[in-house]
Amino acid sequence: MTVVLKVGGSVLTRKSEPETVDEAALGTVAEAVAGALAGDSPAAPAAPAVGDLVLVHGGGSFGHHHADRHGVTRTAGLHDASAITAIHAAMTDLNATVVDALQGAGVPALPVAPFAAATRGADGTLALATAPVETMLEEDFVPVLHGDVVAHAGEGATILSGDELVVALARALGADRVGLCSGVPGVLDEDGDVVDQVGSFDAVAGALGGSDATDVTGGMAGKVRTLLDLEAPANVFGLEALGAFLAGGNPGTSIRRDR
Ligand code: IPE
Repeated sequence: MTVVLKVGGSVLTRKSEPETVDEAALGTVAEAVAGALAGDSPAAPAAPAVGDLVLVHGGGSFGHHHADRHGVTRTAGLHDASAITAIHAAMTDLNATVVDALQGAGVPALPVAPFAAATRGADGTLALATAPVETMLEEDFVPVLHGDVVAHAGEGATILSGDELVVALARALGADRVGLCSGVPGVLDEDGDVVDQVGSFDAVAGALGGSDATDVTGGMAGKVRTLLDLEAPANVFGLEALGAFLAGGNPGTSIRRDR
């Protein structure tokens, strides 16, 4: 059982205030992960144990304001070494805070900086070395990766989103389940209600802003498209449902391509 869980930057940070952690939300995440790994939740076959869980977190007010200031995106790169370093440093600061909170709650969390483990080819494809993560799992640690910058052929460096890391990890590790804990309780329909299940993009294209909506904004349309391409079933849910997901449940929206 391998579970890849991303906690969005909008959950962990206050997006309107640069480099501000939402301490209460971080505490809730740390307690939920600790509780699940300690077996507080009713035993369920889909619940992860230590050695099964990989965490990823986003940038929120740590990554995005630096990225905006320097005009760097996932496709438009930057050659300014000090700016690239500043973005990376903001993200490793946030990662250290997240790892510290997890360890404080009793989770054997370890920091993993994707900048040194990833490259992006000229065509935009990501290559991520996952051997360190695999060995950490074998040794019963909880690797904690983060959105970052990545060296990009022909572009200098671009932004590497946490969502991309989730996909790369899920594929490389053959994940059984994927979770995205986000600032909304799931994929919302036109009335603002959570859609229980998504099996094709067309079914929710209207609510998500049309079939040519892309991932450049990091919006829900891009997440749904990407998650539909995974073998593993995925759930998108809010912080209030993190415990339920880690206990093996299917909160929020379940995303799996119709087959
Ligand atoms: C962003 O990661 C990383 C940087 C801007 C450096 P994400 O795109 O995964 O962050 P959130 O979850 O949307 O905040």
